[in-house]
Amino acid sequence: MKKLFGTLLATTALTVAAFNVNAQAPTADIPADMNALMSKYTCIACHRPNQRLVGPAYVDVAKKNYSNEKIVDLIYNPVPTNWPGYPPMAAMKQVPKEDAMKLAVWINSLDDTGKKTSTKKSTTTKKTTTKKS
Ligand code: HEC
Repeated sequence: MKKLFGTLLATTALTVAAFNVNAQAPTADIPADMNALMSKYTCIACHRPNQRLVGPAYVDVAKKNYSNEKIVDLIYNPVPTNWPGYPPMAAMKQVPKEDAMKLAVWINSLDDTGKKTSTKKSTTTKKTTTKKS
């Protein structure tokens, strides 16, 4: 009996531990390249994909249906009135446009939740004529 109880306890502890790992590693759902950019430009200090931190969760930003260009613009020129209840974000003008755009594309891609259908539509269908040399 004692042994069974011990096993049960251990299982429970393991399960709890697994949950804790998830809770403590909220960066797990950030792709490595985005994680690198978010760390480099400190976005990570205030943003997570699925969780409100200092700033809004990126999924919630994605739900606003901004264009990628608009998000880039908002990174450079935040509009705090878009987010009542949050402190104003500092303008992040040090982020090169190219990286800002990568982040914007990723942020927008997070709003796939409802419609899991491919949004890839021909963005990468560049004609493959590379074989001709
Ligand atoms: C010091 C904290 C902080 C940092 C660092 C930070 N943000 Fe924010 N961000 C916020 C807050 C707070 C808001 C909501 C208020 C606002 O928009 O001013 C926000 C809003 C946003 C929005 C939504 C804009 C809108 O008007 O809807 C985007 C997109 C965004 N941040 C992207 C980024 C990116 C990309 C970086 C890194 C280059 C970054 N943020 C760095 C705190 C931060």
